[in-house]
Amino acid sequence: MKMKTKKTIANVGEILENHIKKTVNKKTVTLNQVAPEIIAEKLKLKERLKKGFKSSEDISDFVLNYLDHTNHLSHPHYMGHQVPVPHNLAGIPELIHGTINNPSSLYEMGPAGSTCEGFMINWMLDKLGWLKNKKKYNFTFKIGLPSGVLTHGGSVANLTALTAARSAISPDVWDKGNPSNLVVMGSASAHYSILRSLSILGLGKKSFIPIPVDKNEVVDVSKLESIYKKLIVKGKKVLCLIANACATSTGLFDPLEEMGDFCQKHNLWFHVDGAHGAAALVSKKNKKIVKGIEKATSLIWDAHKMLRVPSLCTAVIFKDFKHQAGAFQQKGSYVFHSDKVVGMDSMAYTLECTKSALGTKLFWALAIEGEKAIEDFVDYTFNLCINFYNILKKDSDFEIPYKPQSNILCFRFIKFSKNNEFQLKLRYQIINNKYFYITSCEMNKIRYLRVVLLNPSTNITHLKELMLEIKKIANILANQ
Ligand SMILES: Cc1ncc(COP(=O)(O)O)c(C=O)c1O
Repeated sequence: MKMKTKKTIANVGEILENHIKKTVNKKTVTLNQVAPEIIAEKLKLKERLKKGFKSSEDISDFVLNYLDHTNHLSHPHYMGHQVPVPHNLAGIPELIHGTINNPSSLYEMGPAGSTCEGFMINWMLDKLGWLKNKKKYNFTFKIGLPSGVLTHGGSVANLTALTAARSAISPDVWDKGNPSNLVVMGSASAHYSILRSLSILGLGKKSFIPIPVDKNEVVDVSKLESIYKKLIVKGKKVLCLIANACATSTGLFDPLEEMGDFCQKHNLWFHVDGAHGAAALVSKKNKKIVKGIEKATSLIWDAHKMLRVPSLCTAVIFKDFKHQAGAFQQKGSYVFHSDKVVGMDSMAYTLECTKSALGTKLFWALAIEGEKAIEDFVDYTFNLCINFYNILKKDSDFEIPYKPQSNILCFRFIKFSKNNEFQLKLRYQIINNKYFYITSCEMNKIRYLRVVLLNPSTNITHLKELMLEIKKIANILANQ
């Protein structure tokens, strides 16, 4: 059965446009959670897999049903995970990529995609203040110059940076394996992908030396020196120090400046996990919160968080290309050529062999409205979070452990109970009511409700409505 590309895509485009319109105008629920068996039946998965789509109309029917069973991120009451609401047209690069399939890790397999990637890495280097002598259209990888690659997500990016740091401190690790004395110092509240990476690298969880954090899970820098000295006395080799910019659960930033200075003093690799918060670099107003980030040896930055790129797209950035060059040391005669070829291949520096046209998505997300729109978005969401905090603070039914530094805020409803179970029940009832979508997390063993504000259509009125919804539901739960 032949289907007309233009007609089919036009139909899907119309459905998507209506979906977004209805969602933004709150004519839909946020999330309608039903069992996968029900969804599978509605989507006719078995039947369609066997016989294929019968017509453009059949595809439209699938898309309509599919959208019904999605988390409606464009709904102003979606305040959930660190997954942003993309621009309505952000999917176009995915459509192009899905149609022509040009992976961007080998230049010759996707010259335009690779070029967009190189350009956007330079754009990020510029935001860090690292571009200096390098021009935005200089795409060569060169020792002594900063560099970076795009990869599928922050977890892969952290693994890549740690792999590079390990090669730097232990250059023959790829042949001989890990020395037994390697350790990593890092915030006790580091993202779980850090510990996971250490285990994948064969260093084991035991190699992680947690730096104590304060009650809001921010690194206590006063502890760094004594911990480091003890490690050296024990004959340990510190592979790197890791900072959160910002922490996943709280949205608070570690003291980057002091941590960077500490690393300079001891000639240590400084890795900044800026998955969420590196985006403050694009804001003239909020940039101060990441002061010190430029002292990093390596940095990860998820574009699929605050830069509104549809998942996934993360940059791993190195102050000196020599570190990126050492990350992986495999050979593959069919892909790694020593001869001079046109363009640049990123394949040698990524965990992935084939990778999507990530740079195109990133370029596109910024180019749709121009980069100023992203700066405005970051400022808007950070500001909204402070406004919400100020309102919550005035209401004694709520407890807020800290003043937000980004667009993530934890708080709990304490009128009836300070019990962790109660907060968790509250969260589930909120999402089961389908009117709001928020998350929850534990900090110092205390459970909080959590909002991440990265929805351009959420405003302070919606957050006030959330407070009312919480009160209403808490009342019901307390009287059950
Ligand atoms: C600080 C931090 N690092 C790493 C990650 C992992 O990123 P990804 O979900 O892209 O793998 C996250 C995800 O939330 C994060 O918040």
